Amino acid sequence: MIDLRSDTVTRPTEAVRQVMAKADVGDDVYGEDPSIIRLEARVAAMLGKEQGLYVASGVQSNLLALLCHCQRGDEYIVGQDYHTYKYEGGGAAVLGSIQPQPVQVEADGSLDLQRVESVIKPKDLHFARSRLLSLENTHGGKVIGLDYLSQARALSDRRQLGLHLDGARMMNAAVALQCEAIDIATYFDSVSLCLSKGLGAPVGSVLSGSKDFIEEARHWRKMLGGGMRQAGILAAAGEYVLDHHVTRLADDHAHAQQLAEGLGELEGVSLHGVATNILYIGFDRHDPQVVAAALKEKHILISPAAKTRLVTHLDVHAEDVPYVVQCFAEVMASLAV
Ligand SMILES: Cc1ncc(COP(=O)(O)O)c(C=O)c1O
Repeated sequence: MIDLRSDTVTRPTEAVRQVMAKADVGDDVYGEDPSIIRLEARVAAMLGKEQGLYVASGVQSNLLALLCHCQRGDEYIVGQDYHTYKYEGGGAAVLGSIQPQPVQVEADGSLDLQRVESVIKPKDLHFARSRLLSLENTHGGKVIGLDYLSQARALSDRRQLGLHLDGARMMNAAVALQCEAIDIATYFDSVSLCLSKGLGAPVGSVLSGSKDFIEEARHWRKMLGGGMRQAGILAAAGEYVLDHHVTRLADDHAHAQQLAEGLGELEGVSLHGVATNILYIGFDRHDPQVVAAALKEKHILISPAAKTRLVTHLDVHAEDVPYVVQCFAEVMASLAV
């Protein structure tokens, strides 16, 4: 199968499995897992933060960040379509009594900072206390540039907000911007980095921030059942992919561009946009479900939607790209009849 539904579908390579099999482990709740200790220190250093915390998932990482930045009755400002607001089950509200203040996401994936400023609540007993601005980079594959991040930092400082990054795909952003991850992370108080998206580790994210912040996050992680004991077997995979799978993200970006160019030429397919490893297409004449079923017969998986998202990753190879375009062409032709 060529699985274009998400970059979360990658499977560990043989090399990753070997590293996992040999990983040194200990009880991480006792702070004794050498592979986890090494990964946490490595990500913290890479992002210019005091400490890191290895966690089960991107959702858990973002939730811990929100619980640490905000107390009961506080609020965080977030994009209406950002993962931390829309796709994380309302965890901050459910588990932290934290109110979200969503704002519209701009076409480039950022938030209009004037709009952000306009929703910050005055210090008044009627209002929730605005504490945090939570951004996402990349968002829908779109890269938010360093100039914008520096303006967001300035606003956060001026209005005394914390600044969190959902950096599930921040390495894609760094590769696209041709900068180091630290150049992005430097603007944020806390950063959540996923190892299990385009980087191709089977599991895990690292939350990073100040020593006090991570100590607090460690407490919440345990409470939420996230003390994973000998999880060094997973962390070792995380370390491996940071060594070996970062620069190759440029290949995923090139493949997404090539797919966009090929599919954009086809009758009945509209290209809605492409950035880093994600493209969005629409089917002008056909039900996306029908297209998806026909593609599945040709061993291609997509998630059908009005705007169908296709994602390139470690398990989509250069030779798959022309094959996918050809299969789409065949399906469009057969359905047109
Ligand atoms: C932008 C973004 N943030 C966070 C997450 C959550 O990651 P996980 O599914 O590993 O919890 C995702 C998942 O796809 C994501 O796309």
